[in-house]
Amino acid sequence: MTLEKIHYAALMAALSAVTPAFGAGDAARGAKVFGACAACHSLRAGEHLTGPSLAGMVGRRAGTTDGFVRYSEALRKADVTWDEKSLDVWIANPQKLIPDNLMTFRGIRDAGQRADLIAFLKNPGASAEASGGMMGAPRLESLRGLEPQARVTAIRYCQDSYFVTLASGRTIPFWEFNLRFKTNGTADGPAPSKPAILRAGMGGDRASIVFASPEEINQFIKRRCE
Ligand code: HEC
Repeated sequence: MTLEKIHYAALMAALSAVTPAFGAGDAARGAKVFGACAACHSLRAGEHLTGPSLAGMVGRRAGTTDGFVRYSEALRKADVTWDEKSLDVWIANPQKLIPDNLMTFRGIRDAGQRADLIAFLKNPGASAEASGGMMGAPRLESLRGLEPQARVTAIRYCQDSYFVTLASGRTIPFWEFNLRFKTNGTADGPAPSKPAILRAGMGGDRASIVFASPEEINQFIKRRCE
């Protein structure tokens, strides 16, 4: 090696300690940008939220993630494979790349942030370690084995109100507009016939009741005034 080349190599090594690679994004910074996606996407394989899991997304054809059944026709029919280029266009403006897709996201304007995010998506595991094991995505809480005050044993409906009886014995009234009925049929969902209540809103005046299956909703709710 000539002296010039050695100097050049040393310079490149010094530079790469600061910027990981020329033209490429910084995955650790990208992990933070992923916060814009985390409400809808998990990075765990097979864990689908509003959107499909993004584990192993790079290199895959659009609309083909196993186990995700809510793809739009637009995405399923799109002739797109996810690589750095297509992801960059998608993240900048999803509707421009594939019109009528169902990802309600305005896009990220800043090209540097997109490059960082793509670097992260290519290898989320490594940068998750670098950023302290934070995967960013929320995990749906397990609704198994809950405390008695989070388990519902009966629901009565009268006029404009639901009266929800808990396993603790307490009955709480809700205005019908403040109560939501949901289902979670996964292994994290409640056991059959053991719906869970999740309190929310200021002072817990709103709540969701989560059933193991939609059939249980009618079985549980009895129309009766006392
Ligand atoms: C409000 C929820 C939401 C947010 C926020 C969101 N997405 Fe999505 N995403 C979706 C949905 C829903 C789909 C499926 C769209 C369809 O089928 O038309 C999707 C699809 C995708 C796909 C295509 C998946 C496949 O299997 O082909 C990619 C890639 C993607 N999102 C990346 C991102 C990234 C990166 C971000 C953050 C910058 C993000 N999304 C933010 C909901 C969201």
